[in-house]
Amino acid sequence: MTFQEKLAELRRRHEAAEAGGGEERRTRQHAEGKLSARERLDLLFDEGTFEELDKLVEHRCQDFGMAEQRIPGDGVVTGYGRINSRLAYAFAQDFTVFGGSLSEANAGKICKIMDLAMKAGAPVVGLNDSGGARIQEGVASLAGYADIFLRNTLASGVIPQISAIMGPCAGGAVYSPAITDFTLMVRNSSYMFVTGPDVIKTVMHEDVTKEDLGGPMTHNATSGVAHFVAQDDPDCLALVRALLSFLPQNNQEDPPRAEPHDPADRRDEALDSLVPLEPDKPYDIKEIIRRVVDDGYFLEVHEHFAKNLVVGFARLGGRSIGIVANQPAVLAGCLDINASVKGARFVRFCDAFNIPLITFEDVPGFLPGTQQEYGGIIRHGAKLLFAFAEATVPKVTVITRKAYGGAYCVMSSKHIRTDLNFAYPTAEIAVMGPEGAVNIVYRRDLQKAAEPEIMRTQKVQEFRERFANPYIAAERGWVDDVIQPHDTRPRLIAALRMLETKRDTNPPKKHGNIPHERIRNA
Ligand code: HXC
Repeated sequence: MTFQEKLAELRRRHEAAEAGGGEERRTRQHAEGKLSARERLDLLFDEGTFEELDKLVEHRCQDFGMAEQRIPGDGVVTGYGRINSRLAYAFAQDFTVFGGSLSEANAGKICKIMDLAMKAGAPVVGLNDSGGARIQEGVASLAGYADIFLRNTLASGVIPQISAIMGPCAGGAVYSPAITDFTLMVRNSSYMFVTGPDVIKTVMHEDVTKEDLGGPMTHNATSGVAHFVAQDDPDCLALVRALLSFLPQNNQEDPPRAEPHDPADRRDEALDSLVPLEPDKPYDIKEIIRRVVDDGYFLEVHEHFAKNLVVGFARLGGRSIGIVANQPAVLAGCLDINASVKGARFVRFCDAFNIPLITFEDVPGFLPGTQQEYGGIIRHGAKLLFAFAEATVPKVTVITRKAYGGAYCVMSSKHIRTDLNFAYPTAEIAVMGPEGAVNIVYRRDLQKAAEPEIMRTQKVQEFRERFANPYIAAERGWVDDVIQPHDTRPRLIAALRMLETKRDTNPPKKHGNIPHERIRNA
């Protein structure tokens, strides 16, 4: 063979890999509103930086006529490149090749980049678009999944892992995204389920569409499995890039600094009138967040799930921060099962990756009711408490209005190692609301009173004057300062600067025993 012939052979193999499952299947992929695996990687990475690996890998299956059907690359494109100028690894399943199904060889490619990412300390992004385990390969394909799950688990808390679901993701395949840190889904083209509509029909006699069972809004709003919903493929990939811009490369690094354009001493007078004086009047906590953070840019995570707790990323003085905030506009900001689980996972992510936590607190307590108690609000609420208490990153809390009961302790109070706790003059810190307190403490007196309603109003007023303020806590030092709302931004930036070199540790242990995970929809 001449050198020219050898070059031609190489070119032929590369072209075959790039052609994937062929023109017809690619046209079908586009007709469904989906980009191809390579087009997706082009949008994910900084232009021209993607380096493909294992382009020539082929499956080794001999059964079911597979020996004659070999496509270089075997249905997944893997490699590394730059995202926002920083190293990242990615795999993109190619639905045009055997439905993007996972073979032993194809799993080996994914594992290879995961191993490299762990050694280099850089994020892994998975672009999922697959019919699941390659049926023709049997247990070899299942083994491939298990190899990936193990790596997902070991990499958790070491490097950021992001899963974009851009087509089907079914069966056990869903457990890889579930272990990763963030899951994004694309409207109209993605779905995830452990068992599909046909199996559900046979076993449970239930009729459900693919979309209702496992579409993007099901998992963003109802199950909480997914954290983001994107309009289309380009939107999804832009979201992945935006998300990564807040994160460090690994757990040994600090998050990247952005050049701050928004002045650190910017005060916002509108904040002084945002929290209503009436204790039960709702307001939008996101309005406060946007007015405080750099350039008003807040990347909300889990936007559609448990809206009574808001979590997401922003920057203050150019530094990445994780925000956890009660939302008085939904369920009066009460903590329930889903909000607790959502908050706990986010806090643990931020703590694992050295991202300081800012908490905005306005919480009347945990949501009462049999549904919540039967669903296990005790153990689920404990997760949020555990997560905040365990976190050693810089922690700063701002109580905007209510901090009642157990929720006061849970929401990053001074007592669970929060570094700085601020309160607005509108803050109310008490065991419970004045009405509830009076009904308990004065029950007998009210029963005996000639004019119980007049007495109740009087006692409620007394309670409110005594407890509905931040000064008892401030006098004890559990609130470090009562601040004017318009000063929130400069005070938080000063706090973060002071805490920049913070070091704190937990006692040596194999791992803690966070109350077990079981999300049941409330
Ligand atoms: C091999 C597969 C495949 C699979 C699809 N294909 N899934 N090949 N193994 N798992 C092939 C098809 O034969 C077809 O090949 C091509 O991919 C496109 O598939 P279509 O069915 O034509 O596409 P579509 O109509 O869009 O339907 C997509 C689909 C469906 C809903 C994903 O293909 C499907 O139901 N696939 C099987 C899903 C499944 O049950 N997987 C196993 C899950 S259990 P041609 O040559 O015609 O283009 C699992 C276990 C993991 O994954 C365990 C981990 C612990």
